[in-house]
Amino acid sequence: MKVDIKSKAEIDRMREACRMSAEIRDICASHVSPGVTTGEIDDLVAEYCGRYKVKASFYRYNGYPGHICVSINDEVIHGIPSRHRVIMPGDLVSTDVGIFKGGFNGDTSRTVCAGKPSPEAARLMEVTRRCLKAGIEAAGPGVHLGDVGYAIQKVAEEAGFGIVRDWIGHGVGRTVHEDPQVPNYGIPGTKLVLRPGMTIAIEPMITMTKAGERTDVLSDGWTVVTRDRCLSAHYEHTVAITDDGCEVLTLPADYP
Ligand code: MF3
Ligand code: CO
Ligand code: CO
Repeated sequence: MKVDIKSKAEIDRMREACRMSAEIRDICASHVSPGVTTGEIDDLVAEYCGRYKVKASFYRYNGYPGHICVSINDEVIHGIPSRHRVIMPGDLVSTDVGIFKGGFNGDTSRTVCAGKPSPEAARLMEVTRRCLKAGIEAAGPGVHLGDVGYAIQKVAEEAGFGIVRDWIGHGVGRTVHEDPQVPNYGIPGTKLVLRPGMTIAIEPMITMTKAGERTDVLSDGWTVVTRDRCLSAHYEHTVAITDDGCEVLTLPADYP
């Protein structure tokens, strides 16, 4: 395992890519509405990238055809945007965005509902956000990745939800996916010890049922779905380990 340590100057550059990723993530989320197609949201990102002369990190990544990932309901991650996929009332939609700028990538996702969520969908989203928050609060120098995973796992399990294990968070920087692996479960005191300058994507993928933590990939070769087709939610931040904790790089620009 080779974990890239970024200098302060490199983190500054990465912060730019991450801020832009966050901005586009939120633009995408604000366009989630019944009747809109996921292809239209992808088009928006393509336009934005053209206007600001940046690259969508996922476009053509391992042959991926979209600029972003848009995953609905039982789709956990890697949903391919399509002009034929119409968002329906009550859909849970995750918009996962990465922007490549100045040599670095951001990677960030949030899940929103098209219209009013059912009470159980609202709880799933809220718990998944708390999972991400718990992971971020645990992360810092000298902390094991097992501690981060455990913090996430604890929140999901106490709520009675499933945790996707087939797919996990990761290092992110010059490439979208790099070492280390960042699972959403773990044993405290195990695995890699985090150090200042490491940059990781923490991304809990939480499912309504325990059976749903098993996943399948659809015949399009990309879309990851819960095996029992239960609802899932996904939030993701890119985080830099600092001397005294961590910095979330993919917060909105106006966030303190
Ligand atoms: N955003 C995904 C992640 O969080 C990666 C998408 S790569 C793609 O790891 F090729 F599938 F788009
Ligand atoms: Co992502
Ligand atoms: Co990621």
